[in-house]
Amino acid sequence: MSPWSSLQVLDGPGELATEAAARFARAAARALERGSLFRVALSGGSTPLQTYRLLATAPASFPVRWGSVQFFWGDERFVPPDDPQSNYRAACEAFLDHLPCPPAGVFPVPTRAGSPAAAAAAYEATLRSAFAVQGVPQFDLILLGLGTDGHTASLFPGAIPDPRDAALVAGIQAEGLSPGRISLTPNTLNHAREVVFLVVGADKADILRRVLQSEAPDPDLPATLVQPMDGTITWMADRAAAADCGQSTGERS
Ligand code: 6PG
Repeated sequence: MSPWSSLQVLDGPGELATEAAARFARAAARALERGSLFRVALSGGSTPLQTYRLLATAPASFPVRWGSVQFFWGDERFVPPDDPQSNYRAACEAFLDHLPCPPAGVFPVPTRAGSPAAAAAAYEATLRSAFAVQGVPQFDLILLGLGTDGHTASLFPGAIPDPRDAALVAGIQAEGLSPGRISLTPNTLNHAREVVFLVVGADKADILRRVLQSEAPDPDLPATLVQPMDGTITWMADRAAAADCGQSTGERS
């Protein structure tokens, strides 16, 4: 287990969604205690949807002051916002359209721009304005998933933005990747206060083991590039996904 990871194993997808929703609510409460907005970057994919639905439909269990929350996305597909592949559309349907009151702000990636690169540049300007920073914005929480090839957000093997590039957001176009993508860069991800990976299912067991056993960042395993500089990282996995990690239900670090 790499020293910078902490693996929390939950019995199944439902238990993971419940614990992830509780983590979200706690992170939001901490931001409120700091007297600031809670700025969260949502993950795409299917894994987080159950968590999103819980947060929107069980306010008593996961109390969040939605009027103090600003929503962003860790990555997006270069499709219109009403496209079935859109991470924004999926989050609205599962979560944002069902909140008991309007959030402080919802900042989707502007995918009607002319290209993924143009959308990335526009989103970068959105981030700088919303966070009122010239440097790298610090998200309070970033939710991420893990692909079976080791990708996270839209950081794919062989298509990692150049780390020498100081961009906050990158347009990703690669052979065989359709549609194109827009992604927060590893540097932006690594400035977060808290990063939580949500990993579910037996098909993720091998890749999760490989990522957690990696002793150094590996561009061929893009999820290993996520190593928050000052923040925390938690890997939440159900037992099926953690089957190859030699860990039963519980927490270890
Ligand atoms: C996306 C996500 C992507 C996702 C992984 C896991 O836009 O699809 O950002 O990184 O988190 O592919 O997806 P599942 O949760 O569907 O397995």
